[in-house]
Amino acid sequence: MLTAEEKKEIVAEFPRYEQKRAVCVEALKIVQRHRGWVSDDTLSEVAEFLKMSPAELDAVATFYNLIFRKPVGKHIILVCDSVSCWIMGYEHIRQHLQDRLGILLGETSADGLFTLLPIVCLGACDQAPAMMIDDRLYGNLDPVKIDEILSTYR
Ligand code: FES
Repeated sequence: MLTAEEKKEIVAEFPRYEQKRAVCVEALKIVQRHRGWVSDDTLSEVAEFLKMSPAELDAVATFYNLIFRKPVGKHIILVCDSVSCWIMGYEHIRQHLQDRLGILLGETSADGLFTLLPIVCLGACDQAPAMMIDDRLYGNLDPVKIDEILSTYR
């Protein structure tokens, strides 16, 4: 069941859109913020609330790669793999993150703390190589800086 708070937040989005169903991406983000990810049951509840079919909403959820359809870690690391970051050492940065976390891209660390995902340009090319952890941007990365950053989340 969607909580009263989740429903309230979704309803608050309605005035911004002509149709209820147009709120679907925001609604998925809202429930994901509360639950960490969007399970099949949750997706069905949101679809029903927006008068959509689960298949329609699942198609939307699948299109947006930042809507998580399986459990993720407490923190999401998005490491930029676009051109400026490639030039400035993305591969080295990605490898260091993978080694430190003991996971590959798309996986979650054994302690459940981090999920590591690739992302297109974060709009911080002047600070390449760059990554985001949750809503926070980190640039000019090197292995030492990454270790310092990760230690603040442990
Ligand atoms: S290419 Fe990585 S932030 Fe733009």
